[in-house]
Amino acid sequence: MKTNIIYLGDCITILNKDIEENSVNLIIADPPYNLSGKSLNLTNNQTGGAFYKVNENWDIFKYDDYVEFTKEWISACYKILVHNGSLYISCTQHNIAELITVSKKLGLKLNNIITWYKTNSMPNITKRTFTHSTEFVCWFVKGSNWIFNYEAIKEFNPKKTKDGQKKQLRDFLDFIELPIVQGRERMRGENGKSLHPTQKPEKLIELFILASSNENDIVLDPFFGTGTTGVVAQNLNRRWIGIEINPTYYELAKKRLYHNLELFNVSN
Ligand SMILES: C[S@@+](CC[C@H](N)C(=O)[O-])C[C@H]1O[C@@H](n2cnc3c(N)ncnc32)[C@H](O)[C@@H]1O
Repeated sequence: MKTNIIYLGDCITILNKDIEENSVNLIIADPPYNLSGKSLNLTNNQTGGAFYKVNENWDIFKYDDYVEFTKEWISACYKILVHNGSLYISCTQHNIAELITVSKKLGLKLNNIITWYKTNSMPNITKRTFTHSTEFVCWFVKGSNWIFNYEAIKEFNPKKTKDGQKKQLRDFLDFIELPIVQGRERMRGENGKSLHPTQKPEKLIELFILASSNENDIVLDPFFGTGTTGVVAQNLNRRWIGIEINPTYYELAKKRLYHNLELFNVSN
């Protein structure tokens, strides 16, 4: 199977048609949250129009269609995972219930819900709820023999003992503090604007790839966006596969991954 490759198209079609069953060790998925198209009512809004946190066509579904879409892509992921494979799915309160219900029905086991605390999250604009500052990542496994690289996670933990040794994981929890991607890591156009609204931090993805795969394993991302999963997998000597439906983001990911890298020699 070809790896270190980006497919342009719908992930459900490509997962069912182009990816071999029982072949992928780890899937990192950052799907649409069905959050767009819902404007926020702001008192004294002076932006000249409705305010949206994220407003992208790929992120707008009717509720029943969203549940159906969730069933289809998670079922397709289940088929291609190896017998002890892992599936990490990013979510918020908007879609966590649907993701967990669908995954459990398929027989996936939920091992952890990792909380990402966004240290630079948006201010409380509506003043009608508690301030949203977290996203979640559900870690599901197929079968009971999953990989968890405990030693690698101890190494990942920036906190060390007084004499510089790795610490036990008592103080490294299912919780990680990281800012929303900014600075040099953020993909920006010449006008300085972000090129993708939901680019994920590399450090977050590094945690999951280290924990649940080994060198040379295959890591697949069905919602590739800017290609963050590919970049981290490449750095950690894993093979990777990305799928992205939007031609603009597909080109962006290609540039990000193939820039300065001799990756065009796709392995088989
Ligand atoms: C939440 S973003 C992922 C961002 C990514 N994690 C990153 O760091 O850049 C979801 C991406 O999935 C893509 N997408 C939406 N529906 C898709 C589908 N059916 N098949 C493949 N890609 C899809 C969108 O175009 C978008 O780029």
